[in-house]
Amino acid sequence: MGIEFNELFDQWAESYDSTVAGLDLEYQDVFAGYKDILENVAARSAGFVVEFGVGTGNLTEKLMDGGMEVYGVEPSKGMREKVRRKFPELQLADGHFLEFPVPEEQVDTVVSTYAFHHLTDDEKGKALVQFHQLLGPNGKIVFADTVFVTELAKEAKIDEAEQKGFFRLARDLRTEYYSTIPNLMDLFYAAGFEVKFEQQNDFVWLMEAAKKER
Ligand SMILES: C[S@@+](CC[C@H](N)C(=O)[O-])C[C@H]1O[C@@H](n2cnc3c(N)ncnc32)[C@H](O)[C@@H]1O
Repeated sequence: MGIEFNELFDQWAESYDSTVAGLDLEYQDVFAGYKDILENVAARSAGFVVEFGVGTGNLTEKLMDGGMEVYGVEPSKGMREKVRRKFPELQLADGHFLEFPVPEEQVDTVVSTYAFHHLTDDEKGKALVQFHQLLGPNGKIVFADTVFVTELAKEAKIDEAEQKGFFRLARDLRTEYYSTIPNLMDLFYAAGFEVKFEQQNDFVWLMEAAKKER
C-alpha cells in the first residue's frame, strides 16, 4: 500500500519526460494534451498548494509560474532526485497520499496529476478524509487522472489496447487501481466534498472538489 510503485518510478524517472511528450506510442493517448491538462489543474489552484506524486515536477513548475507556493510530496527517490535538480528551492517531502509530513502552513489546494490511481478505492477514500481535515476553509482538491465512466468502458479500453498490441498499457490498466466516475463521486461525497468531473482526453478526467458546507 502507498508506495508499492516506487521501483517502477525509480526506473522511469530519467525517461518519464519523453513518455509525456508522446514518444512512447503505447501511452500517446494517455498523455494527449498533457501540458494543457497540467495548465487546467494549475488554473483551478490557488494559494498554498500540497502536490502529491510530483514526478519530474512538470505540474510543480506550472503552479510556481502561477505564483503559488508548492509543498511537494513524492515517494520515489529517483523522482525526488530528478525534481530536486530542477528546483533546488522546492519544499519536497518523502511521503505519499496516506502518510506525509504535514506542512505548518494552512493548505488552500491539494493537487495531483496522473497519480491518484496508485491507491485502491478504499485507500482513496481514506486519503480524501485526511485532505478534508488538512484543507483550510474554502480549500479544494484538483486532480487529473485516468478515470473510466463505467467498468464496461474500462474493459473496452483494455481490449482496445490489446488489439493494438499495447500490452504494457493493457497490463497497467488491469493491475493499477483505475476507478470509475460513480465510485469516485461516492468517495468524494462521503469525505465531505462536492465534485465536478471534466474530460481532458480519452483517458484523463479533471476532478475539482470543494468542501461541502457542514
Ligand atoms: C505517472 S507519474 C506522474 C508525475 C506527475 N504528477 C505528472 O503529472 O507528470 C506518478 C507519480 O506518482 C508517484 N506515486 C506513486 N504512488 C504514489 C502514492 N501512493 N502517493 C503519492 N505519489 C505516488 C510516483 O512516484 C510518480 O512520481
